[in-house]
Amino acid sequence: MLPSSMTSAFTATLGLFSLTLIYICYHAANDVRLTVSPQGCRMSWMSPSYLLQHEFNSSWTPLAHRYSLWLYREVGWDPNQVMGVPVLFIPGNAGSSHQVRSIASSAARQYFSSPFVISSDFTGRGIQPLDFFAVEFNEDLSAFHGPTLDSQIEYSSAAIRYILSHYPPNTRIIVMGHSMGGIVGTALLPSDDISALITMSTPHTLPPARFDARIDEIYRRNAEYLVNDPTPVVSICGGATDMMIPSESCILPDAGDVNPGSAIYRRTIFTSALEGAWTGVGHREMVWCHQVRWRVARAALELGGANSNVDMAVILDTWLNRNGRLIPPATSIDISEAATNEALPEDMNLVLKKPAGFRTYLLPIPRTLETNTTFVLFVSRGSISSIGSQHSTRLQASPYFCVGRATSPTIQQYSESLSCVPLEPSTLKLLPSPIPGKPFPVPDEGSDESDGVVLFEATVPRIPADVEDAWIGVHVNAAGEDGWVFGGFDKTQTLQSDIGVFDILAGGAKLSLQSVEQSSMRRHITFPKLLSNALLIYKLTPRSAEPTVSCAQPILPPLLVHKSHPAETHYYRLEHDKPVAIHTHASAPFIPLSRFTPSHSSELWIYSSGTGCQDVNEFILTIDWWATIGRIATRYPTILISWSSGVVALLMFHAWRESGKGSMPSVQQSLVTFICRPMPKLLVASFVVALLPLSPGYYLGTRGESFLGFLAPVLLVVATGLVCVSWWFILLLMWPLRLFTRLLPAKSRQYNDQGMSRSTVVSIIFISLLVFLFVPWQIAFIGCWLIHLHTCANSAHRKPYPGSAPSLRSTPTESLPLRERFDGHEQDTQDAETNEIAPSEELEIQDMRRPQGLATITDTLDIIQAHHENTHLLLLMTWLLPLSMPVLAVWVRTLMTAGYTAPFNGDHNVFKVAPFLVLVDCTSRRKSALLSHGKAGSYLHWGYLIVACVSFLLGSREAYRVFDVASLFIGCALVVKFSPVRFARCVAE
Ligand SMILES: *[C@@H]1O[C@H](CO)[C@@H](O)[C@H](O)[C@H]1NC(C)=O
Repeated sequence: MLPSSMTSAFTATLGLFSLTLIYICYHAANDVRLTVSPQGCRMSWMSPSYLLQHEFNSSWTPLAHRYSLWLYREVGWDPNQVMGVPVLFIPGNAGSSHQVRSIASSAARQYFSSPFVISSDFTGRGIQPLDFFAVEFNEDLSAFHGPTLDSQIEYSSAAIRYILSHYPPNTRIIVMGHSMGGIVGTALLPSDDISALITMSTPHTLPPARFDARIDEIYRRNAEYLVNDPTPVVSICGGATDMMIPSESCILPDAGDVNPGSAIYRRTIFTSALEGAWTGVGHREMVWCHQVRWRVARAALELGGANSNVDMAVILDTWLNRNGRLIPPATSIDISEAATNEALPEDMNLVLKKPAGFRTYLLPIPRTLETNTTFVLFVSRGSISSIGSQHSTRLQASPYFCVGRATSPTIQQYSESLSCVPLEPSTLKLLPSPIPGKPFPVPDEGSDESDGVVLFEATVPRIPADVEDAWIGVHVNAAGEDGWVFGGFDKTQTLQSDIGVFDILAGGAKLSLQSVEQSSMRRHITFPKLLSNALLIYKLTPRSAEPTVSCAQPILPPLLVHKSHPAETHYYRLEHDKPVAIHTHASAPFIPLSRFTPSHSSELWIYSSGTGCQDVNEFILTIDWWATIGRIATRYPTILISWSSGVVALLMFHAWRESGKGSMPSVQQSLVTFICRPMPKLLVASFVVALLPLSPGYYLGTRGESFLGFLAPVLLVVATGLVCVSWWFILLLMWPLRLFTRLLPAKSRQYNDQGMSRSTVVSIIFISLLVFLFVPWQIAFIGCWLIHLHTCANSAHRKPYPGSAPSLRSTPTESLPLRERFDGHEQDTQDAETNEIAPSEELEIQDMRRPQGLATITDTLDIIQAHHENTHLLLLMTWLLPLSMPVLAVWVRTLMTAGYTAPFNGDHNVFKVAPFLVLVDCTSRRKSALLSHGKAGSYLHWGYLIVACVSFLLGSREAYRVFDVASLFIGCALVVKFSPVRFARCVAE
């Protein structure tokens, strides 16, 4: 056995270690937003007004007393009466109806070019302006509480009925939801009234707070709608910048996974891939970020003119999720009409700076072309087949495939015999064009509407055998403004890298690119063996051979594109020795894998006009530990709470087993024994379990990914440290309480607790009734905790040796330092050994010291036992608090905003808290241990093992199960303890 100073040092070290680690994690998590995915968003401006919908009253829904509905009007732009297509905006957790203003204002100002003048983009197309309604939920905390979410769903559903009653029959509404509002929107879904659903920063697949089973219930229903309901749904995600939700949960489950080949439209788009935005967007910023809001508004405006789901899919793809998927048909032109044609020599790229006029450039297709040759064309500040930046200049480029039947020396003669067809693109999208020397994206500004380079890629068609010559014709029509065109053939092979995450750890992560050719416009690198997980962030450092200053700036500086998921694309500026953070949300803890989320895959593309003189030719891949810690920290706070509960359950398992052998150890002793004996074994076991391919709902949620296995022991150590810290915290709370009770005249209740039977039963019935009718059970549990804290503080005071202020080295709950006293070192109690002394020995010694007699000593021992048991129970209840605390916040908020008469449904299940009510009441009236005393204690400890197992395996995904199983077990223990006869005795005691 260790001396107490050393054992205390043990727990102190572990506790401080955990706190330090949590502090570090907090900072690392905060930095992720800035280093991994900085935000570049312009503020949006508007002139808002909100009209309260008085008529939407309790004759529509009883919730009209609690919530309200508003109509947004842009002052000076919108007339006051509704007239167009209705849109309902649903705010999220603690969100406000006013958040509708940015998108609504943008819709008004896009539809009208000046007040009451319809913009030329919309005239004559049968498109109407939008009427934005927003529900006001008084900033309710919907993320923590299923019934609140249910109320919001009910109210929104009634609001849609009310809104549509003001429109012609068969009008359908567009629903937009921010954050948890998207969950409300999805829950409205099997509805003929909703034409489309757009969610922003919504955690679709994983509740951010997992303390309520009823939220999981809503999520289960939503998951079904998302797979089966034909309403088009788009989810816009902010990526790593969003610190409130893990963005992997924002990815919609793919309907195609369950219904193969289904035409159900589900799209997820990360703002880093959203054309024109190309930035991570924070959680709250999502509703006002200008680069996002105008696209959402535009998509909604266009949706108003759509008649079918297919139309809507095309519109949503065009405005929110082009991502290279949707390719508008190219129009055919008569090449002979071009004023001038110009044939280029073979093996030459087309480079036009500030082109002017109306011309067709012909690039001869070499006869010896390999099959995978691609024609690549970039256009800056212009457009290709209507794809271009929002404010593109009048530069138009159209690629064609042309064949000629006669070989003639001059291009004029070609014109007669050329026949051209539009070239079918395989990719057509807008890429960002970061400004050299400036950060990308530019902070607080982001991309401009005129930014961007159009990328056109097409597989070069086979040349028919009867054709002598073939060209790619690029038809350029320009007004001489500041743009450029760059195109050519690209034969780049894919470079497949075998680097895995363990190679990086071993230091072998250098990747040499093939020697750069003059004409190399794009390069493709895949990493099929590299772990691609939301928890892991890589640092990719580009190196160029000889960074010289004499190189001319290429017209298209190298752009790195990282793709890990169809929805997720990240763009980076590629510069010598400027590391970029490669991150993904494709696979992540607790999220089931789907077809599109491979856990080991990444691909990089590099686009560049390449001068060949300063090109990057080497990558160094390392793990960005700081960012990785930050990512892990944001994914696992819940696991710490449930694992700490698990550790406490293990402590109790040990303590109860010891008590079966004779004496119950104090919490401090339990902690030290736990750290010394089972913990090293548990660390190994936790690692081994992490390697098992469990389903993502269990344990770490990592499906046995070996590299992430090391997380389990670290989390276990931190959880144990937190338990130590929580114990100091409890001591700190008990200290003033104890002083306080000592100052009061000794109350007779503690010692004279005979004949309380009636009041016990009455008080329990009264509290149960209160819970049943009014107070949520979580509040009753907090009450139980307070009473039990008081009981423990009191029983510490009752102890026969002088209690002292709590210190780390000696807690007032340590067992009696009897040997020292016997040896005549009575004053030396603080540094005494914490040896567990067999009761017989203890009795003997006590007897010699205290002449009062055996009865008192048994009493004293009982009191110590009871105190140790109570403090253990207090520790468990303390760790169950975080699982019920959120509802307290929700309840208080609801009472404050909706009045004291507002019904607060669904939390009146008395049985969840009843075991604690009885436990707390009985322990407060007893002097001897309740649960560990007697025979029952000898096998009860297995129950704690079950609680521990549930906490460790299930607690991270379904934290509420920890409370349920703990409550169930305490209930069972009480039932076992109080066979009817015994119950009567407890009540009488
Ligand atoms: C609700 O509003 C309508 C229209 O203003 C009114 O006729 C009705 O009486 C109101 N109902 C209640 C319960 O206030």
